[in-house]
Amino acid sequence: MLVLGIESSCDETAAAVVEEGWCIHSNVVSSQETIHARFGGVVPEIASRHHLLSLMPVIQQAVEPVGGLRAVDLIAVTNGPGLVGSLLVGIQGAKTLAYIAQKRLVAVNHLEAHLKAPFTGTETHPPPKVPASSLSLLVSGGHSILFHVEKSQRKIIGATRDDAAGEAFDKVAKMLGIGYPGGKRIDVLAKEGDPRAFSLPRGMYKRGGYDYSFSGLKTAVMQLIKKIGPEIHTEIPNICASFQRAVVESLLHKVEAALQEYAVEALVLAGGVAANSELRTAGAALAAQAGIAFVAPPLPLCTDNAVMVASAGYDRALEGEFAGTDLNAFASSLWSRRGELLKTQGR
Ligand code: KG4
Ligand code: ZN
Repeated sequence: MLVLGIESSCDETAAAVVEEGWCIHSNVVSSQETIHARFGGVVPEIASRHHLLSLMPVIQQAVEPVGGLRAVDLIAVTNGPGLVGSLLVGIQGAKTLAYIAQKRLVAVNHLEAHLKAPFTGTETHPPPKVPASSLSLLVSGGHSILFHVEKSQRKIIGATRDDAAGEAFDKVAKMLGIGYPGGKRIDVLAKEGDPRAFSLPRGMYKRGGYDYSFSGLKTAVMQLIKKIGPEIHTEIPNICASFQRAVVESLLHKVEAALQEYAVEALVLAGGVAANSELRTAGAALAAQAGIAFVAPPLPLCTDNAVMVASAGYDRALEGEFAGTDLNAFASSLWSRRGELLKTQGR
């Protein structure tokens, strides 16, 4: 089954064709990074307008390698969580194409899609086997969630109580004046700094179960910047390294604790922050120490893309969960609550 995935939940307009849920035939991403950079963050209305301009060319490019839309069996589109105006552009595009080309349509939860990314690949670079059980850490600009996954059941066992990890990266980068998006820039600058240069707090280290908190860390960085004063430019690499170390240790500390409670086959990372070099290295070390597999998507599949949407859409179709012309967008995830299963809304 060939699935066309469409993603427009934030500032990436993306389309991809994936076969049988894992084999990538095309992966087209049009990023608005440079457009939003001068505002220091995503401006929702500008994002929607750019999706409107990019969507059709991106889809055309994605379906070309398989012989056009005609060859596609199913259209999968992200319907949330995300920026509603942006999601609506993708959804309306998907509905229109499905109607005209007489294809079935499925709605995909963006979080579920991120969790599928590590298990996609190509004939020449096949993906790792899906483990029967895992702890999956989804860390993006909007979410920090720890899942216990058993077969295809994904249960949320921990989530951020305030800022998401990616959001903390972006806000700290903005405070340091190093630009947007912050995660990638902090990652690069941290390599030149000393992670022990400044002592920064690890939120909810000893309490809150598997929940996270990054707002205290963000405030501590703000106070540190004020304290350092005009000499700040010379300390930027040290601040980046110390901040990144605090985020990585906070994230993995809870994973390590959860590994004591849940016997799993693998540790899986997903989402934009899974591109972070220190998190990947430390995550791999933690998994090795626990004697379990470590799985993380290749860098281009960590951040938003449509390969993951097509892959999750394939699962929806296997479940017979098709969407109708009444498909709508939703802004926030209703499933960030502990103990709940991650499901798709609005089918
Ligand atoms: O998954 P994603 O593309 O979008 C959402 O669903 O939110 O994640 C974007 C987030 C941004 O906050 C960005 O700063 C962060 O991922 N990010 C990184 C890195 N690359 C992207 N954070 C840390 N290190 C990176 N290398
Ligand atoms: Zn995302």
